[in-house]
Amino acid sequence: MELAEPSLLDALSYLECALGILIFVLLKLVGSPYGRYASQHSAWRLAAPTAWALQELPSLAVPLFLCAGTPAERLRRWPNRILLAMFIVHYVQRSLIFPFLIRGGKPTPLYSCVIAFVFCTYNGYVQSRYLSQYAEYADDWVTDPRFLTGFALWAAGMLINIHSDHILRNLRQPGETGYKIPRGGLFEYVSAANYFGELVEWCGYGLASWSVQGGAFALFTFCVLLPRAQEHHQWYLQKFENYPKFRKILIPFLF
Ligand SMILES: NC(=O)c1ccc[n+]([C@@H]2O[C@H](COP(=O)([O-])OP(=O)(O)OC[C@H]3O[C@@H](n4cnc5c(N)ncnc54)[C@H](OP(=O)(O)O)[C@@H]3O)[C@@H](O)[C@H]2O)c1
Repeated sequence: MELAEPSLLDALSYLECALGILIFVLLKLVGSPYGRYASQHSAWRLAAPTAWALQELPSLAVPLFLCAGTPAERLRRWPNRILLAMFIVHYVQRSLIFPFLIRGGKPTPLYSCVIAFVFCTYNGYVQSRYLSQYAEYADDWVTDPRFLTGFALWAAGMLINIHSDHILRNLRQPGETGYKIPRGGLFEYVSAANYFGELVEWCGYGLASWSVQGGAFALFTFCVLLPRAQEHHQWYLQKFENYPKFRKILIPFLF
């Protein structure tokens, strides 16, 4: 019985990888469901700030609830503490700050919000239970090159993500809902600089955690963001004649 939950967490992580690949295929076939691509005819829609706050909150609430509700033995160790803090810091920003800064965001279809809510609950459980109860690291893991590189990537990715979202937000005056060509920062190199930052962030977390749980989340993020980045890139090229042709889609200088 003792071994049941670690095995479950591994199984859920492999399932997360499989779901990521399935979602990648679905997004390529039917397109992304929210933002500029959301149907304006859908009856069930939520204002963008409400949708973002609600759907992302489980990734913050589930870890806090689980760690407060049960003795979290492994959180006596620094590697576990730091890794869980990396996850929580991101979701404090994503669920409590980012939604309330949005300018003129399109309403989100309810089904899209529900899917994101379910994923955030699932992934919040997997990451936080694994790190708080089961992940075993040597005491000197925090000086291991994998941890240090992963942490640096996570921090740099988060800064790029926040800065890029800031650039997008400032393309609009209060009350505006239209689109302009993003300029500055990594938008000079790619169409989806905010997604590049997010991807770097979770790849760093995956590397620093050196676990199937962390790797599964990085893969899932890639599977969700790549098709949407490709859609954005095509959309920009069609909408703006003067869109810089040398810009890549997601990864500077690569694609
Ligand atoms: N970890 C994950 O799996 C995951 C998945 C999805 C998103 N995210 C993160 O969540 C954040 C938001 O994602 P998103 O998909 O909503 O990003 P997005 O499509 O780039 O849009 C972000 C915001 O900027 C506005 N915007 C985008 N391009 C614009 C332009 N050219 N001119 C004016 N306004 C523009 C959008 O308005 P409209 O709503 O009106 O288009 C929206 O409010 C990002 O940081 C992303 O990395 C993470």
